[in-house]
Amino acid sequence: MTEHRTDLVLRPAHPDDTEAIAALWHQGWRDGHAGHVPAELHRHRRLADFRDRVPPRLPTTTVATLGERLVGFVTVRDDEVEQVYVAGSARGTGVADALLAAAERAVAERFDAAWLAVAVGNARARRFYARCGWRDAAALDYPAEAGTAAGATVTVACRRYEKRVR
Ligand SMILES: CC(C)(COP(=O)(O)OP(=O)(O)OC[C@H]1O[C@@H](n2cnc3c(N)ncnc32)[C@H](O)[C@@H]1OP(=O)(O)O)[C@@H](O)C(=O)NCCC(=O)NCCS
Repeated sequence: MTEHRTDLVLRPAHPDDTEAIAALWHQGWRDGHAGHVPAELHRHRRLADFRDRVPPRLPTTTVATLGERLVGFVTVRDDEVEQVYVAGSARGTGVADALLAAAERAVAERFDAAWLAVAVGNARARRFYARCGWRDAAALDYPAEAGTAAGATVTVACRRYEKRVR
């Protein structure tokens, strides 16, 4: 049986979390996306790129901590759950469930339903979303941020998942 830690804390992100979030996002991105996205996207997913991508999201980011350690984060953008990442050591422990539930509550403050995009080949994430009551609604060509030029993107073949949140 999976052990659920009792010292899990969810809280809003603050600027001091930037480095830990960027490191976790950098590592987790490869876990979920290597082999499932166009090769050109990899050169826009260096640690330095994640350091740039974290600050604009801090106001809508929730982090999960176990003691002193940041073990996951989730970000929302309007009705989209944009990023959900859990450190490898904390996967399968319920941290991801707690983060996703927090994101759903955040979206529910303004919207009836939430959506997210997941790479077609990211089987673990898709299984996780399905277990949490999300519906695989449609194919979606998702414009993933790529580089610093305004609006520069790389298209990733994704599935759109949806869930009523209120
Ligand atoms: C996606 C993520 C947040 C899910 O959190 P998690 O703690 O790993 O999720 P869980 O272990 O609770 O659930 C994953 C499910 O996938 C299953 N699974 C594990 N490895 C799998 C694999 N290789 N293929 C398919 N399913 C898999 C698990 O058994 C579990 O299903 P179950 O609950 O029916 O047994 C986490 O894996 C993660 O951070 N991944 C890397 C980043 C990422 O891909 N983020 C999502 C971007 S859209």
